[in-house]
Amino acid sequence: MSGETTKKRLYVATFGCQMNAYDSERMVDLLAEQDYVQTSDITQADLILLNTCSIREKAEKKVYSFLGRLKALKQKRPHLIIGVSGCVAQQQGRRLLEDVPHLDLVVGTHGVSRLPELVEEVVRAGRPVLSTEFVLEPPRSLPVPFKPGRVKAFLTIMQGCDNFCSYCVVPYVRGREVSRPPEDILEEARALLAGGVKEITLLGQNVNSYGRRLGSEVSFAGLLRRVAELPGLLRLRFTTSHPKDLSPELIQALAEVPVLCEHIHLPVQSGSNLILAAMRRRYTREQYLEKVEALQAACPDLALTTDVIVGFPGETKSDFEETLDLLRRVRFDGLYSFKYSDRPMTVAARLDQKLDEAVKGQRLAMVQALQREIVLARHQELVGQEVEVLVEGASKRTAGQLTGRTRTNKIVNFSGAPRLIGHLVRISITEGFANSLRGEQSAGGEAGLASTA
Ligand code: 5AD
Ligand code: SF4
Repeated sequence: MSGETTKKRLYVATFGCQMNAYDSERMVDLLAEQDYVQTSDITQADLILLNTCSIREKAEKKVYSFLGRLKALKQKRPHLIIGVSGCVAQQQGRRLLEDVPHLDLVVGTHGVSRLPELVEEVVRAGRPVLSTEFVLEPPRSLPVPFKPGRVKAFLTIMQGCDNFCSYCVVPYVRGREVSRPPEDILEEARALLAGGVKEITLLGQNVNSYGRRLGSEVSFAGLLRRVAELPGLLRLRFTTSHPKDLSPELIQALAEVPVLCEHIHLPVQSGSNLILAAMRRRYTREQYLEKVEALQAACPDLALTTDVIVGFPGETKSDFEETLDLLRRVRFDGLYSFKYSDRPMTVAARLDQKLDEAVKGQRLAMVQALQREIVLARHQELVGQEVEVLVEGASKRTAGQLTGRTRTNKIVNFSGAPRLIGHLVRISITEGFANSLRGEQSAGGEAGLASTA
């Protein structure tokens, strides 16, 4: 390094889920206080962080191979600090340090807010540092830095999960459920809005059980109503909801609260009662369908998205057909589908009757083909309709095009002036594709709400 600048360069690689992306953002903000600036050039970095999530497949393998590739860089730049955070760090702990001699720092899922002091400790002590203890307190509130041009932001309201679905590693690596106090959440939301954010998505593994252990009176629906009242907020979203905890109060809030968007992500996982029981989901197919009906009755424009796992141990052809049947009935607006795979420590990993990779692959392909048809048909049904779009930015694909989302979270591309970014506009849908919609601005279609709040 030239030594002309005191700024140090930080490269962050994020693996996995939205909650992890939020944590990565927090880490960048925290390290900014220690003069780290983010770089996209890994070869120039003074600190490399791999923020990992093991809910998805082969996380551990990916992290090890990424770390393997960093060995040569560390030899060239001996002052370089390499750290691993998140689920894989939590799961592997000391073993990671033993397996990867050029690794300097392992920070578990509860260590994000201590990151700056841990990095400092690596520098000071000149040896690897490990921090993987669980803290049964809500994560510390951190200052929200101003980021120009940011239209939407995530806000974590709780961490961990108490559900122990039999296939899932989250309760082991993210710990038990801990909710943040409503005042902290409101303060962070206010700071985001003051920085120009128009849309907030509240995040948690199972937001419907928010506040259960907090000892306060605030339910998730109550929290949503309080956040929804903040001036300047144009749209409010949340994810993820466990079907067993979906309350009538939440359904009512979806129907009543104007800024709350008509979209719910409600992972079903399987359409077969036998498999749902083996997954320890604690609802039946019938109960799931009843909740969907109640949601649709209260909120007719609601978009529903879901997660499905195919090839859970013991899943027969007829179990799988029940999943396909459920997908045909509900006609989800979006779906994330996964082949079952073992996660360390979980109950399902110890089950017999594992399915062949080839069978799992075929089932996944069938789910995806069916879902593609459904979404395409749904998108084409929207042609001719007028929708409200929050403009997020310029389209990355086509010059002169803007991109945004409907209240139902569908991507819409259209021609428009950049000054519309951050505003609500009315768009008439002209074409529906598999992953997005195209439209044109309706006459007088600038809702202009953004500046009046
Ligand atoms: N195998 C396959 N998919 C899984 N998911 C979680 N654990 C597993 C696993 N062991 C999927 C679930 C969950 C989504 C985030 O990841 O569908 O909802
Ligand atoms: Fe995992 Fe189940 Fe908790 Fe979701 S609800 S994070 S699938 S244990």
